[in-house]
Amino acid sequence: MRLSSIFFMATAITFLFFTSCNNAADSAKTAAASKPAGDDMVKRGEYLVSITGCNDCHSPKKPGAHGPELIPELLLSGYASATPVPRQDTALTKMGMASFAPDLTASSGPWGITYAANLTPDSTSGIGTWTEEQFKKALTQGKFMGQDGGRMLLPPMPWPNYSKMTDDDVKAIFAYLKSIKPVKNSIPEPVAPGKM
Ligand code: HEC
Repeated sequence: MRLSSIFFMATAITFLFFTSCNNAADSAKTAAASKPAGDDMVKRGEYLVSITGCNDCHSPKKPGAHGPELIPELLLSGYASATPVPRQDTALTKMGMASFAPDLTASSGPWGITYAANLTPDSTSGIGTWTEEQFKKALTQGKFMGQDGGRMLLPPMPWPNYSKMTDDDVKAIFAYLKSIKPVKNSIPEPVAPGKM
């Protein structure tokens, strides 16, 4: 082999070595960028909660200039006992219709009466003692309290919408919920359709 070909091959190998190292470093950087940690994870969770509708049902509201407004100190604390509960009228049920409390935290329909859960980190009435695994099962598989063998979550909790949520998004939402102000607020059991 001529000296110039050996030189050419050596240069090509060195070039390949450096470009593949750069690619590895780049993909490590991308992976790090897409996995938020700490405060960033909480911020991402807050953003996800704001666009996936959790507040619609889980946050008590007061009338405002442009319709129902969130009450910051009660954020995500679920159905509040002072909120009037819609009683399902038999004629409406027969027509397959549902009614909602004005702030959407309680509803009645062919599934009975349901009350939105307290998602704040209060240790007795909220998700303060929940593990991430429990939260994931509740949110993505519709299991009450994230427990296998328990009852399924009832409408209008739209858990099938969240069934394909990535682990990173579930983690971020859980981190955010654990970071908000705990509110002590026990939620009533659902009422079965025959007992309304
Ligand atoms: C359309 C209304 C609605 C929306 C939107 C909604 N939920 Fe719910 N959610 C409910 C209701 C009602 C229940 C209680 C259902 C029951 O008791 O069977 C519930 C139950 C839950 C539970 C189970 C609590 C337990 O004790 O097992 C979790 C966790 C939960 N929701 C999280 C969320 C999160 C997080 C979001 C947003 C990503 C969300 N929900 C969006 C209405 C809603």
